[in-house]
Amino acid sequence: ELGEHRHYMHKEIFEQPQSVIDTLEGRITQESVLTSAFGHQAETLFASISQIQIIACGTSYHAGMVAKYWFEDIIGLPCFIEVASEYRYRNPVLLSDTLFVTISQSGETADTLAALQQIKQKRDVKNLNCPTLSICNVPESSLTRESDLVFLTHAGPEVGVASTKAFTTQLVALSLLLTTLGKVQGRLTQKRERIIVQGLQKLPGLIRNALNHEDEIKEIAKRFADKSSALFLGRGTMYPIAMEAALKLKEISYIHAEAYPAGELKHGPLALIDEYMPVIAIAPHDDLLEKLKSNLQEVRARGGQMIVFEDENANTDSEGGMKVVKATTNVGRITAPITFNIPLQLLAYHVALIKGTDVDQPRNLAKSVTVE
Ligand code: M6R
Repeated sequence: ELGEHRHYMHKEIFEQPQSVIDTLEGRITQESVLTSAFGHQAETLFASISQIQIIACGTSYHAGMVAKYWFEDIIGLPCFIEVASEYRYRNPVLLSDTLFVTISQSGETADTLAALQQIKQKRDVKNLNCPTLSICNVPESSLTRESDLVFLTHAGPEVGVASTKAFTTQLVALSLLLTTLGKVQGRLTQKRERIIVQGLQKLPGLIRNALNHEDEIKEIAKRFADKSSALFLGRGTMYPIAMEAALKLKEISYIHAEAYPAGELKHGPLALIDEYMPVIAIAPHDDLLEKLKSNLQEVRARGGQMIVFEDENANTDSEGGMKVVKATTNVGRITAPITFNIPLQLLAYHVALIKGTDVDQPRNLAKSVTVE
């Protein structure tokens, strides 16, 4: 079943162009997103909401974090996000006209499911307008059964404990949700919808190009052979992508990894930087690039080992001294975080190979966390 691949994780990383095609199939036309992608009730329910609350765990939480930036920036809809294990125990206040979105690969994550059940209970007692949507990869799961609306990601079965293709398709799902909500609420012009859809159509090709950097990334992975910690930096949507990259690295290579929004460096983590600390930065050519560059100079001035994943227009290394991977040609606001994540998955995978860990079954972890 593994074919040419040594591990499921590797196979699943390389399946991503197809997973995206399958998740888009029947949900978009050449120029627009089909509102029916979220079910027949979606149009009515989406028209009535004024904010979004996303709840998820682990990698699915990181997908939701990317979406928060999208929802607020692109369609001006307030979006909140929280990990399920905190949300469910802090007695949160439910506001009417909130769309509750749970995200889960398995649909069986105990905390996410419990959070959803609690929301439904509170909403029914107070008679609030709080529709629930689950974005899930498993059709007949507890989460899909409990939700008003369901969007299935068509990633196909994910076997590796480290989530890869599920994450990518969750982001695709969230971009379709963004477009549909924007359209139903008159927050998105037809032109912008067309641009988003055209970007999504290019995504499988962009992912393929990113996968072509594997040999280069294999070389970089060697630098981690004797490392026990690493720092990932990003700004905007690349901050959650940095968090996801750090999670992947720690989960399968057992290297302690942390992600920081680059603007927070001065507020503490800069003290960790010395010539032994690898710092991985994600640098798309966007409005925040100049700010990121000055953060990278701060790291370099302290001798940190910089590895930068950038797009072809970014040119972060004007003064030399950084290892730069031109990971993509892409700068689209939706497609960039999805594409930049791909080489970072490969980095975690190849570091784990060097460390000799059990890539598909890392110690102490289960594929679905059905106990709290
Ligand atoms: O099935 P779910 O998406 O609800 O799972 C949530 C997390 O347990 C999961 O993403 C976990 O963090 C992965 N092992 C990360 O690779």
